[in-house]
Amino acid sequence: MSEKVAVILGANRLFRDLKYRDTYIVSFSLLVNSYLGLKIAYRLLENQDPSTNVKLVVTSRTEKRCNEAIEIIKRDVGKIERSGKLSFDSLLLDLTDMESVLKAANTLNDRYEEINYFFVNAALGACDGINWFAAIWEVMTDPMKSVTDPSYRIQNVGVISKDQMGYIFQANVFGSYYLIQKILNPLSKGKAVVVWISSLCSTPQYLSLDDIELINSTRPYDGSKRLIDLLHLATYKKLKEMGIYQYVVQPGIFISLSFSQQMSWISYYSMLFLFRLARRFGSYWHTIDGYKAANSAAYVTTFRDRDFERQDLKYGSATYNDGVEYVKSQEIDPLGRDKVYRYIEGKREEWDIKLQNT
Ligand SMILES: NC(=O)c1ccc[n+]([C@@H]2O[C@H](COP(=O)([O-])OP(=O)(O)OC[C@H]3O[C@@H](n4cnc5c(N)ncnc54)[C@H](OP(=O)(O)O)[C@@H]3O)[C@@H](O)[C@H]2O)c1
Repeated sequence: MSEKVAVILGANRLFRDLKYRDTYIVSFSLLVNSYLGLKIAYRLLENQDPSTNVKLVVTSRTEKRCNEAIEIIKRDVGKIERSGKLSFDSLLLDLTDMESVLKAANTLNDRYEEINYFFVNAALGACDGINWFAAIWEVMTDPMKSVTDPSYRIQNVGVISKDQMGYIFQANVFGSYYLIQKILNPLSKGKAVVVWISSLCSTPQYLSLDDIELINSTRPYDGSKRLIDLLHLATYKKLKEMGIYQYVVQPGIFISLSFSQQMSWISYYSMLFLFRLARRFGSYWHTIDGYKAANSAAYVTTFRDRDFERQDLKYGSATYNDGVEYVKSQEIDPLGRDKVYRYIEGKREEWDIKLQNT
């Protein structure tokens, strides 16, 4: 019997790195499990016909974390009633290493004739530190901004990867783009849904078209998400001609240790309190819980008539002030789309040559 193959880039969580993680595990297990890739896997399975056989391919930079992700998913999916077989595969992938990206692409091409779902969830660099004075000031003077688009998060500037590219550009955008370009065959055969995880904060102000690799940017993470939006606009039509349906989604704002790693437990729970307050007072983007955050990524895989649904929108996970989830779409400003596409395609050609003897 045939099976559906879903590849999820970066489906694990970071809690083990925290000194105070045990507190989370014991008292707040619902929050511990909130990391997006795991929840995307869970929701994808929930949406499948229960008799469908599914293969989940999870990636990480280490085998250990791949295995951990698989164990967590296995444990969680026990809650879903399904008769279809669920199997797993793990794939080592470091998006900041182009040889690793090519190797992962070759492995996917060798192992799978068809890939049905592909989620670009892996990302780096949301927060490398916190300017506490600015944080306190912003919480007091503009509390909604402080929990929606905070300006006190420090992001490292000018970091270059070992492949001599902007580090965040390569990790969050180019590595995944290159990988997708190398597996078009199985994606096309599987009539795949490709989902890029963007962000609420991917506004044009965070991307200078003179610095597409985000080397001089003070907000490279947000700039990388803007690049994702533009790259999606530039490529979805071409992919559709191959039978591949690409979407860009954003998860709202949810509890993630990618930025809470920098916090003490007091500031962590204060942030959580402010998130809940923001939602109560009308901020629909405060999804808070990873399951609700994964709503938009799962939603775009369920379109019955894909030709009818718009692909030029960004689908966002949202909640009403009582926490009930829904999906809210947003227009994407296309300014700079063609320049970004030309630049990234140029990089792809450059790396095709560099990697041809690999
Ligand atoms: N938290 C929020 O409120 C929020 C808001 C908007 C958008 N998002 C987006 O939602 C997605 C998931 O966020 P999250 O907070 O759940 O992520 P997370 O817990 O920080 O996990 C990041 C994942 O990316 C992988 N990764 C990091 N660097 C990598 C690299 N160089 N090569 C390959 N994989 C790499 C990690 O895998 P390994 O470490 O195992 O290799 C990990 O699985 C991200 O795209 C994020 O930008 C989050």
